[in-house]
Amino acid sequence: MKQIDKVKFDSKDKLYKYMNIKMTGLIGDEDDWLANLSNASALLNLLIDEINWVGFYLMKNDKLVLGPFQGKPACINIEVGKGVCGTAAESKEVQLVKNVHDFPGHIACDCASNSEIVLPIVVNDKVVAVLDIDSPKLERFDEEDQKGLERIVQTLIKFVDWASI
Ligand code: SME
Repeated sequence: MKQIDKVKFDSKDKLYKYMNIKMTGLIGDEDDWLANLSNASALLNLLIDEINWVGFYLMKNDKLVLGPFQGKPACINIEVGKGVCGTAAESKEVQLVKNVHDFPGHIACDCASNSEIVLPIVVNDKVVAVLDIDSPKLERFDEEDQKGLERIVQTLIKFVDWASI
């Protein structure tokens, strides 16, 4: 495997394009979902600045269960509808939270977190997982991050074997 380097870009659009190419290279030829989600969380952690947690919660028996991630140990089970992750899973909509302290029911796993983005991963109209990214910086994520990360999620939908989880 070729080493993946952190590169500085002058726009978020370029950063997310680079990330998507690297993500496809990393997971495109591998069938194992655990290997792919582990590498995906490592790649996101390498390339996204100013974050303290990135990873997946997987839908199992109608609950979200902690999956591969990078960061401090986190809560294991999240009910659908609870917290930012559970809200994304219930609504099937991206939750772009500029200040987590203003989000009713936010679940604090790392008290350093101040902003967060959670993207639902929807396959055949069902939420199979969410991608959660936390930052210690207020308003770390904006609509450009959301657009770029939505493209990353499309790549994950395409190449991860969700049915085998
Ligand atoms: N903040 C999330 C919980 C997961 S941790 O941030 C890793 C939430 O409110 O759902």
